[in-house]
Amino acid sequence: MEKFRFLTSGESHGKCLTAIIEGVPAGVGIDIDFINSELHRRQQGYGRGDRMKIESDTVEITSGVRFGKALGSPITLVVKNRDFENWQKIMSVSPNNRTDDKAFSVYRPGHADYAGSVKYNQQDLRNILERSSARKTAIEVAVGAVAKLILKEIGISGSSEITQIGSACCPDKFHKEIDLAKENGDSVGGKFVVVYKNLPVGLGSHVHWDRGIDGRLAQVVMSIPAIKAVEIGDNPLGLCGSEYHDEFKIKDGEICRTSNHAGGVEGGMTNGQDLVVSAVMKPIPTMMKPLESVDSKTNEKAKAHYERSDVCAVESCAVVAEARIAWVIVNEILLKYGSDSIEELKSRLI
Ligand SMILES: Cc1cc2nc3c(=O)[nH]c(=O)nc-3n(C[C@H](O)[C@H](O)[C@H](O)COP(=O)(O)O)c2cc1C
Repeated sequence: MEKFRFLTSGESHGKCLTAIIEGVPAGVGIDIDFINSELHRRQQGYGRGDRMKIESDTVEITSGVRFGKALGSPITLVVKNRDFENWQKIMSVSPNNRTDDKAFSVYRPGHADYAGSVKYNQQDLRNILERSSARKTAIEVAVGAVAKLILKEIGISGSSEITQIGSACCPDKFHKEIDLAKENGDSVGGKFVVVYKNLPVGLGSHVHWDRGIDGRLAQVVMSIPAIKAVEIGDNPLGLCGSEYHDEFKIKDGEICRTSNHAGGVEGGMTNGQDLVVSAVMKPIPTMMKPLESVDSKTNEKAKAHYERSDVCAVESCAVVAEARIAWVIVNEILLKYGSDSIEELKSRLI
């Protein structure tokens, strides 16, 4: 069941990325500067590629907002690709402008190129790259920013932190790890944690497998490009039950916990503790020192296609995860409390 629903569209080098969101309660403050600051955060981070220098993303809102407030009608967000003027021929919609400029046929290991070209019967691998690229996460972050604005109205906020880059687990060593990979024409991945605070008890449900908030969170985070593992709370591997589970206590007559190993979810529902979601990002698959591959046209050995690329994007990925988790929380809040207007929502949450 989707109460906060949207579709996104747009290719990496196409004219723009677009989203139409339905379900934002009327009266929510839509602060464009905040959406732009989230887009900016996604573009930052040590180890990002040159594209971030060319493009500074900003959002345009073309429907659903009037005088800074949501109308309750669908909100359309547009993020233009600033480099489009250099790509308009290559990405032309018209059959008359057909060109092989920027076409490529050598599969990039670790990308959607091979499976996507077989599945969609495409010979030019650019037809797969353009949508499989993580560029689409820009519009996802814009949608996440709108979700965060709804959450802000009801006192819920989230943040993220990097916990590992390559083999380094302490921040002092993160840049070194990225520099070393860059020097070697290589790439690195890492791990991050996202925390959301002040969630009500009972978002999600234990009553049916597809209603658990843990499953929904895992899906939105796992499907971020390059994410290979998702954890909720502490990794319980190797811990005894007595070490892992969070005991109930009574303080000043109120039920409380003194630990949060479960990461705020028990039985598929939020339990009032901080929601803690961690994820592991694989090393970026496009590298200056390209991997061995095959040319799909000749079936001969070739070096993987290289196109300007990040060496490390874990910081950006954490921002994307914050955004996607915000979608899930908002959706669950709207499922539980309904609400056509923000005033109604606030009154139901008391
Ligand atoms: C924010 C972000 C930036 C990324 N930047 C790049 C990049 O510059 N070059 C690259 O090869 N992969 C990049 N990736 C990863 C690929 O998009 C991803 O590995 C690829 O689409 C295959 O998907 P999979 O790893 O989930 O199987 C990035 C991912 C994210 C989330």
